[in-house]
Amino acid sequence: MRKFKIGILGATGNVGAQLLNLLESWDENKINLDGPPRLFGTKKSAGREIDFKNHEIIVQDSLPENFEGLDIILSTATSDVSEKLVPEALKRGVKLVIDTDSFYRMNESVPLITAGVNDHDIDWHKGIIAGPNCTTAQLILPLHALNKAFGLKRVVVSTYQAISGAGKGPMDLMIQDCQEVLKNPEYIKRIRDTQVAFNVIPMISSLLEDGYSKEERKVCIESRKMLNYPDLQLTCTAVRVPVMTGHSESVNIELKKSFNLNEVNEVLKNQEYIQLWEDWSKYPMPLDVAYTEPVHVGRVRIDQSQPNTLDMWVVADNLWIGAALNALRIAEKAIERGKV
Ligand SMILES: NC(=O)c1ccc[n+]([C@@H]2O[C@H](COP(=O)([O-])OP(=O)(O)OC[C@H]3O[C@@H](n4cnc5c(N)ncnc54)[C@H](OP(=O)(O)O)[C@@H]3O)[C@@H](O)[C@H]2O)c1
Repeated sequence: MRKFKIGILGATGNVGAQLLNLLESWDENKINLDGPPRLFGTKKSAGREIDFKNHEIIVQDSLPENFEGLDIILSTATSDVSEKLVPEALKRGVKLVIDTDSFYRMNESVPLITAGVNDHDIDWHKGIIAGPNCTTAQLILPLHALNKAFGLKRVVVSTYQAISGAGKGPMDLMIQDCQEVLKNPEYIKRIRDTQVAFNVIPMISSLLEDGYSKEERKVCIESRKMLNYPDLQLTCTAVRVPVMTGHSESVNIELKKSFNLNEVNEVLKNQEYIQLWEDWSKYPMPLDVAYTEPVHVGRVRIDQSQPNTLDMWVVADNLWIGAALNALRIAEKAIERGKV
């Protein structure tokens, strides 16, 4: 059985930690490692030791020459790093880079993939496959299932996004801010402009010229690309909430064909990687779904305000579905399809 040398670029970050965590127990028949993964971070992290299956791996500086000999790189650092280092990796013979960053997502020569939605797009990769934004990754699974069965007409999504989606730095700051505020229990103090602790922030990433945020724009354009549905009507309001891990989404979906609830539930139950919570008295919440594999879909109900429309509540682990787990599923499927 073929073995693969794997590298993780951004191994010391939030997503990098989850890639390692998942890779430790990944089925060796699906991704057969040729030695422990090679780990890369900034110069400041170089030399740090990280445990993998009881072996200490030394983090290396992300220098292009250090990528020699690798088959696959899971890249999860920053856009600058993706722009500069991914081409360098390909020049040095790396066969496939799976990049969780936004830099290549809308590049027409790069497939943008959520496993279980558009796996066929793996077949035309030219060395790079991009994974979507975490918010889009969990939304696209139910949208894909419903689009196939009934046709999507219009989607309205409001998000409640965890701080870990912003990276390790902001997550540490939120913990620190919580501790500061709790030291002064008589009042809730605003510590910084972007304070997430004890707050709700309706602006993620930067503000665009039309009043939407970059995060909201990503959800729309990435969904259209993965569904190969360029004129899909979709609008989003993206909100940061003081949750550690697990993005939640309230989604209103107008379908082209009429349906009943049983039919919708069947479609969702049959979609790979979705867990349906059919009982309305139980619903998925971030604390319950962090570190679980499925996209959890609950509170599926018929919108009484207009025909052919549904409401649902979608929750998933943003670090897993939104990045690390999706990247490893793509790697596994690329291997299975002989595309590495
Ligand atoms: N968090 C999510 O839910 C999520 C979901 C989907 C996609 N993504 C994407 O995944 C990527 C990583 O996100 P994250 O949340 O893991 O961020 P993070 O916690 O801030 O980690 C960033 C990682 O990149 C490394 N890095 C930063 N600058 C570098 C440089 N110049 N050269 C080499 N390595 C560098 C950091 O190394 P040091 O530790 O040495 O600084 C660290 O390992 C981002 O592109 C993000 O957009 C994240």
